[in-house]
Amino acid sequence: RGLRGAAVVAGLSVLVCAPPAFAAPGDPGGPRYSAGAPSVGDPYFPSEGNGGYDVRHYDVVFSYDPATKRMDATTTITAVATQDLDRFDLDFRGPEIGSLTVGKHPASFRREGQELVVTPRPKLKNGERFTVQVKYAGTPPVITDPDDSIEGWVPTDDGAFVPGEPQGSPAWLPGNDHPTDKATFTFHATVPEGITVVGNGQLLSQTTTGGRTTFVWDSTEPMATYLATVTLGRFQVARSVTPSGVPVYTAVDPQLASQSAATVARIPDIVEYFSSLFGPYPFASTGAIIDKAPDVGYALESQTKPIFSSAPSLGTMAHELAHQWFGDSVSLKRWSDIWLNEGFATYAQWLWTEHNGGATAQQTFDSASNYGRAATSSFWQTVLTDPGPVDMFGNVPYNRGAMTLHALRGKIGDAAFFTLLKDWATTHKYGNATTADFVAAAQSASGKDLKGFFDVWLYQKGKPATW
Ligand code: ARG
Ligand code: ZN
Repeated sequence: RGLRGAAVVAGLSVLVCAPPAFAAPGDPGGPRYSAGAPSVGDPYFPSEGNGGYDVRHYDVVFSYDPATKRMDATTTITAVATQDLDRFDLDFRGPEIGSLTVGKHPASFRREGQELVVTPRPKLKNGERFTVQVKYAGTPPVITDPDDSIEGWVPTDDGAFVPGEPQGSPAWLPGNDHPTDKATFTFHATVPEGITVVGNGQLLSQTTTGGRTTFVWDSTEPMATYLATVTLGRFQVARSVTPSGVPVYTAVDPQLASQSAATVARIPDIVEYFSSLFGPYPFASTGAIIDKAPDVGYALESQTKPIFSSAPSLGTMAHELAHQWFGDSVSLKRWSDIWLNEGFATYAQWLWTEHNGGATAQQTFDSASNYGRAATSSFWQTVLTDPGPVDMFGNVPYNRGAMTLHALRGKIGDAAFFTLLKDWATTHKYGNATTADFVAAAQSASGKDLKGFFDVWLYQKGKPATW
């Protein structure tokens, strides 16, 4: 136990600490069973993610009653083993587990912090496709982040507000909680009649019997767990379509409807504009969820359904929709590269503002420079590619990240810059990428040696001398 704890803290060293594998006697080429790693080794969130398998699909069936805050859930995970496994972990911080089966067989399990340690019998062979079914019931928790924000399962007066970045989904969903393991999702949610459940993807059905309504949502493109939501409450639902034909589903709390109306009406225009810049919208539908909830102080780019706990400004709406390309479709490999999400979405927001007749990107860049008027400010003394878990959603990844893109645009010219953004969204569609991948792509799109430029903006402390 002590060893395991230390190994989790040390991140990557978990691989070294795994119990020794062995071959069956007389079968040197046979299975070599060992435990899947309890972490993917991301230093910002050392317990997030697990090794030894790749999740393909989550099927989540649950009922929830806002009056009692009780959830009754059965989640079935379909995964493929990536090694011979005699044990593996899921990430789960949710309520009490009633039963757990792997395939048809009950499996023994134990919980240690957010690790749900599963011992499958029979053991699993490398390449084997298997299912894990977890039944659990109770009240899912609110989770507090390193920056003191809340996420996970946040009760509201009529339901729950459900954001999951960077570590909230295990509050209600057992899984492999790291952006490097994307999967498709289906949600079947049953709630008292009158309550609407809004999940990622497309609404397959909505049926009411005996005073309860079941919503089935299908998220058909790969999605990182932190982007999953099943936000529920009383909502005004509206449907429309973008000029390119992408279906739009919006759910707005009646208490925020008048304040949100003008912003919501622009969703099709925003998605259309970004499609012209970054390439076709990557998912089968889009929309938004605007829920009067405890104000969590941020909005979130939940896939196909960005969520807002207060009426969003047009800029914030544009930011979350831009994330559908940058963050949701093209995802991080490591949280330290968060500027690839936040800097890109912020820059897209600047571009939208200019397109919509507001400040030009250059003007926004100039005012963003004020955050770092003094070269000694933390704005310049923080390395953009390593803001740390406390400041990963702070000014540096957002504004300095966006400034970096604007400076790059000045350096390589509009033609190369916009080709680069489109190629970035296309090449890594539904995948994961790193800052080093972006630097390489920028070099090849521009034909320029940008080492010095990126070194100053991305990898060093200090205010760049010129831009
Ligand atoms: N990615 C979100 C955005 O659109 C911010 C999430 C902040 N989360 C948090 N736990 N502080 O900018
Ligand atoms: Zn963002």
